[in-house]
Amino acid sequence: MNELKDKISRLDSTRMPVHVAMIMDGNGRWAKKQGFMRSDGHAEGVSTVHRVTKLSSDLGIKYLTLYAFSTENWNRPDDEVATLMYLIGWAIERELPELLRNNVRIHLIGDIERIPEDARKRLFDARDATAHCTGLQLNMCLSYSSRWEIADAARKIARKAAAGEITPDEISEDLFASNLATAGMPDPDLLIRTGGEERISNYLLWQIAYSELYFTPVLWPDFSDEDYVDAIISFQNRERRFGKTSEQVQNED
Ligand code: FPP
Repeated sequence: MNELKDKISRLDSTRMPVHVAMIMDGNGRWAKKQGFMRSDGHAEGVSTVHRVTKLSSDLGIKYLTLYAFSTENWNRPDDEVATLMYLIGWAIERELPELLRNNVRIHLIGDIERIPEDARKRLFDARDATAHCTGLQLNMCLSYSSRWEIADAARKIARKAAAGEITPDEISEDLFASNLATAGMPDPDLLIRTGGEERISNYLLWQIAYSELYFTPVLWPDFSDEDYVDAIISFQNRERRFGKTSEQVQNED
């Protein structure tokens, strides 16, 4: 605990990420290592979700975006999909009082209509119950893939153009972004992927154009508060140039 406090005290409060996105990978391997079922790994992963949400809130991070279930995850064995859906619904309902206590607002991103009714209802209930909260916004990406989101945005824009509400020349980066599921949110400053793989897996492809990427071999159930703070320290030690030169960035500072 003291080690964590010490690490947190080393953070530069003027350079905190506003938006952190996470790819929560490694639940299955964690379970296998312990001789457990894959579903036990997902259940253990829920504890990490609880911890990273609390720490994000305590650190004053405004947006935390979690990749809880991808469009491609529908192709997993039926029993694993069913367990994950059950877990997600159960966890969100169980966590609701704590989310409210911490002023955390739930926002759902993805093709939510595909989520089974029971879990979907619990998710909608949590979203509606936290709609007034003004602290951390917890974006849960469910039945989500970035290509789905981009195609969906293109469809919405095409409909507006076909209806004569906009002309093709009015389609700018800003207009496109305002039709994505993350409309109105700043892009992620930091994207963390646990579990050792170094890929993006169809996640927030538009939004991470200038995000800092952090890959760690730590499996999601083992991802500790210290590991999270290490990722933020790494982020704070980087120079974000957004295509400019180092000299230009330093002069701006
Ligand atoms: C990837 O690990 C993880 C997932 C597909 C699911 C992540 C979901 C949770 C942690 C539960 C979410 C709950 C809430 C409330 C947001 P993997 O199974 O691909 O691991 P592996 O690569 O080791 O097989």
